[in-house]
Amino acid sequence: MGAFLELDRLTRVFAGSPAVRELSLAVGEHEIVTLLGPSGCGKTTTLRMVAGFEIPDSGRVVLDGRDVTRVPPQKRGFGMVFQHYALFPHMSVRANVAFGLETVGLSRVEIERRAARALELVRLPGTGDRSIGSLSGGQQQRVALARALAPEPQVLLLDEPLSNLDATLREQTRRELRALVKEIGITTIYVTHDQEEAFDLSDRIAVMREGRLEQSGPAEDLYHRPATEFVATFLGRAGAVEGLVGEVHDDGLISCRLAEGVIWKAQAARGSELAEAGMKLRLLARPEALAFARPGSDGALRGTVRETRFAGSVYLYTVTVGHGELEVQAVAEQARPGDLVGVVPSSAPAGLFAFPAGAERQTG
Ligand SMILES: Nc1ncnc2c1ncn2[C@@H]1O[C@H](COP(=O)(O)OP(=O)(O)OP(=O)(O)O)[C@@H](O)[C@H]1O
Ligand SMILES: [Mg+2]
Repeated sequence: MGAFLELDRLTRVFAGSPAVRELSLAVGEHEIVTLLGPSGCGKTTTLRMVAGFEIPDSGRVVLDGRDVTRVPPQKRGFGMVFQHYALFPHMSVRANVAFGLETVGLSRVEIERRAARALELVRLPGTGDRSIGSLSGGQQQRVALARALAPEPQVLLLDEPLSNLDATLREQTRRELRALVKEIGITTIYVTHDQEEAFDLSDRIAVMREGRLEQSGPAEDLYHRPATEFVATFLGRAGAVEGLVGEVHDDGLISCRLAEGVIWKAQAARGSELAEAGMKLRLLARPEALAFARPGSDGALRGTVRETRFAGSVYLYTVTVGHGELEVQAVAEQARPGDLVGVVPSSAPAGLFAFPAGAERQTG
């Protein structure tokens, strides 16, 4: 898919500190790309530059081959829901939703039809005559979403548009939102810090950290082949132990020498410099890639269960091992805090990633 909307080395500095740094991202036509990252990493600032509410210090926003970096927001015709949605409190729900339609020059009947459809989508049919002030926070958020969708824009920019909804409504709404956006064929950038939401909604996820793009790709790629420790731990869970490079294999795998002569095979992180035997590494392991074994059995790391958690369909165990802490997932209750256990990979090298030690230390 060629780039329909292109973010080209966008940089925005506030009072000497960069909020967004050299961020490049190509969004294909009709694609839904999610910006995912922790609070303060620059998601809103990026979206505001795409919308035109913020002018980048350097870099460009290109729409369908045209540089729109300095085109004012109202001339871009993008739909947008702000993180702090700005509704008109003195106007009715219907007037709010229709607001974006008035300027497009549609007939009364068509405006009515589209406003009603948008309100149905966000599960607020029949509320058109109510005042904004009489709605709950979550309902107001859905009105904001309806207002952005009603004109059926080419490009939709959504900044945490479902954050005030309860879990069930949130899940329903994002499914329907995805279906509608795909049906109309709207190119969408969606901002969230909720990984489950990103998984559910996006064609591609762009993980941001401290103003930079850390990695982008389909959710499966990021989950199964994280380029950095940050991505590995931000998307899904992963424990970590320290070790040394044993053997470097041709197929991108590395034999990792861990405590007590134990060797586990792991995927070498993309672009990592773990090229030589003896180099220090950190091995990250997904909980579902590990299992319990008898302590002292072949290939088992010896550890002590520190904590157990019941997570609905599975149990999660935090296990302290010599040089780190692993998480083990099991379907039944298998250990208690204080138990001495062995931990082995259950599907190596899937879910095991080797990163150079010292590069980063984010876990949890
Ligand atoms: N107008 C502004 N003036 C000064 N600093 C700003 C301004 N807007 C954002 N920043 C700073 O830029 C950084 C990125 O902010 P931004 O709002 O883009 O983060 P975010 O990823 O959207 O975070 P959140 O998930 O909390 O909404 C933060 O450090 C923030 O304090
Ligand atoms: Mg934000």
